[in-house]
Amino acid sequence: SWTTGSVIEEQVGRIRAQVGEGTAICGLSGGVDSAVAAALVQRAIGDRLTCVYVNHGLMRQDESEQIEQAFGESTGGAELVMVDAEEQFLAALAGVTDPEQKRKIIGHEFIRTFEQAQEDILRERGVIEGAGGDAHTAAPGHKAFLVQGTLYPDVVESGGGEGAANIKSHHNVGGLPEDLSFELVEPLRTLFKDEVRAVGSELGLPDDIVWRQPFPGPGLGIRIIGEVTRERLDILRAADAIARAELTAAGLDRTIWQCPVVLLADVRSVGVQGDGRTYGHPVVLRPVTSDDAMTADWAKVPYDVLSRISTRITNEVSEINRVTLDITSKPPGTIEWE
Ligand code: XMP
Repeated sequence: SWTTGSVIEEQVGRIRAQVGEGTAICGLSGGVDSAVAAALVQRAIGDRLTCVYVNHGLMRQDESEQIEQAFGESTGGAELVMVDAEEQFLAALAGVTDPEQKRKIIGHEFIRTFEQAQEDILRERGVIEGAGGDAHTAAPGHKAFLVQGTLYPDVVESGGGEGAANIKSHHNVGGLPEDLSFELVEPLRTLFKDEVRAVGSELGLPDDIVWRQPFPGPGLGIRIIGEVTRERLDILRAADAIARAELTAAGLDRTIWQCPVVLLADVRSVGVQGDGRTYGHPVVLRPVTSDDAMTADWAKVPYDVLSRISTRITNEVSEINRVTLDITSKPPGTIEWE
């Protein structure tokens, strides 16, 4: 029978068997999945795990700082390397509008960044010597692992499950380059979110990590409908921060599974403000309730809360002149718009 204790024991054993004498890096996203995956691997192989946080410039307001802070309390002393790769990601995304193409590019940049981080870590540990060159030819016999917080629903929706269609190539399952120089460690592959949260609690992770709402790996990159630019990201970050603050203030964080705020960057709508006509952008609020993200319903957020969010966004974010509410369940709509 399923108990969190037995899952932890079994996964720790599997990780030890898989990694052997190798080293691993774990990309932390700030979410519960990668944090729990990291904590399990830390338990299995100790300081042969290094966590890497890549700031891809697609994070929400103040998020990178919060993640760095929360990390100290959460992974039992594993090392954290922060990589600032904003320029690199935004350059790679320039001109791209297709959602799957965005995921592919973001997944690719993640892996390249992890490989670079891995090489730096191995050089620091003396596993590879000299400067430059390829980490994996330079260290024969050394095995490098990449820890991913892939969950069961990700496997199913990315076409990894039996007979499943590829609904979306979640970057942590479907969008990996073919010449990957890491072997993947995926200790959460058979688990649903509620089980991951139970394992996280049992491992002693703090509540604000265990109960964090899901946030996709490609971040705000798949919440801008159209090309991703820094200017658009800043607009979306401002609107998103207001929505999150008001939902939190209303005590709805655990009722709502997540609430993407989506910027319709290629759409303009006419508005009026003061004596003037405006021609700005709409945003969509997408609050949903769900148990596992496989299905979802639109959340019946109280009108007064919606009203505050709308008023504040249109008052405080000058580029946005319209706030709309998505009232589609999943299926047929997915939670994210891309
Ligand atoms: P959808 O939009 O497919 O989302 O209904 C289901 C859940 O998965 C998250 N999501 C992603 N997570 N990489 C991720 O790591 C992705 O590419 C991705 N796309 C969607 C979404 O936020 C929701 O929780």
